[in-house]
Amino acid sequence: MNLKGQNILSAKQFDKKSLLELFGKTVEMEKFLNKGRFLKSASGKILATLFFEPSTRTRFSFESAMLRLGGKVISNADMMKTSSSTKKESLCDTGKVVSQMADLIVMRSAEVDAVAKVSEKSDCPVINAGDGVDEHPTQALLDLYTVWKYRKSLDGMTFGMVGDLKNGRVPHSQAYLLRNFDVKFVLVSPAGLKMPREIVKELLDLGVEVKESEDLFLEIKKMDVVAMTRVQRERFESEEEYMKYDGSYVLDKNMMKRVKSDALILHPLPRVNEISVEVDSDPRAKYFEQVKNGVALRMALIDAVLKG
Ligand code: NCD
Repeated sequence: MNLKGQNILSAKQFDKKSLLELFGKTVEMEKFLNKGRFLKSASGKILATLFFEPSTRTRFSFESAMLRLGGKVISNADMMKTSSSTKKESLCDTGKVVSQMADLIVMRSAEVDAVAKVSEKSDCPVINAGDGVDEHPTQALLDLYTVWKYRKSLDGMTFGMVGDLKNGRVPHSQAYLLRNFDVKFVLVSPAGLKMPREIVKELLDLGVEVKESEDLFLEIKKMDVVAMTRVQRERFESEEEYMKYDGSYVLDKNMMKRVKSDALILHPLPRVNEISVEVDSDPRAKYFEQVKNGVALRMALIDAVLKG
């Protein structure tokens, strides 16, 4: 699949071949990154980041990736407060305007479909950096890249997702990417925060084995990957509603005793209390390494979108 000039809106866009191609390219980018080298492949190009929701990693990661590729960045991390949206400019107009000044837009929004809407009017490609409770394709790409790096394959694994699978956009995108591989799913969440029915149905229709459970203690033993996520506080109607779920699952040293010796622990971060700090030094914990992999993966993706 040639990504040149394409919007990256959903993990559904990727098939196995394009994923493996992207991972191969990411390996090359990682080599440059580890040597501290700056490339010139995006020289003369400008990335605009439009973030309508808070972010630490994703925005810095895209910006870092663009700078490493020799490109330049114009950024607004606080669109809700300081952009013309406060003057009631429509999102589509904002997108159209910014695309006159940039070669690539990376956008995050609290609204499902907002990124897709902007991409329709934009004169340059748009990458979805999270659209509400819907998707976060580049996070899922870097999550799977991290697993692939260790395993050299994604086939044959039992992939565990734990936490707020309803509101977490990362598990949704992970599921869409993983359906390209021979993977069993173990989905652990409180009953009120289950993976959306349409995603589970899609997996089942493809003949994929999906186990849903509320019991982490029981299920964690089966997982080759334990993909943790936080309860998405900002998606709840009230603090009271959120507090019902806060602390539902905690991966601590004791729970880690039940995890396979060669399993990988992932988390997109930020974490709240779902992984204890004492787990950070466990060799199976890969969540900080994921962040670094994310820069290399986004370098590969930006390069592919700008140049093919
Ligand atoms: C995730 C997000 O924004 O969806 N964070 C990230 O991009 N690394 C996960 C989260 O906020 O829980």
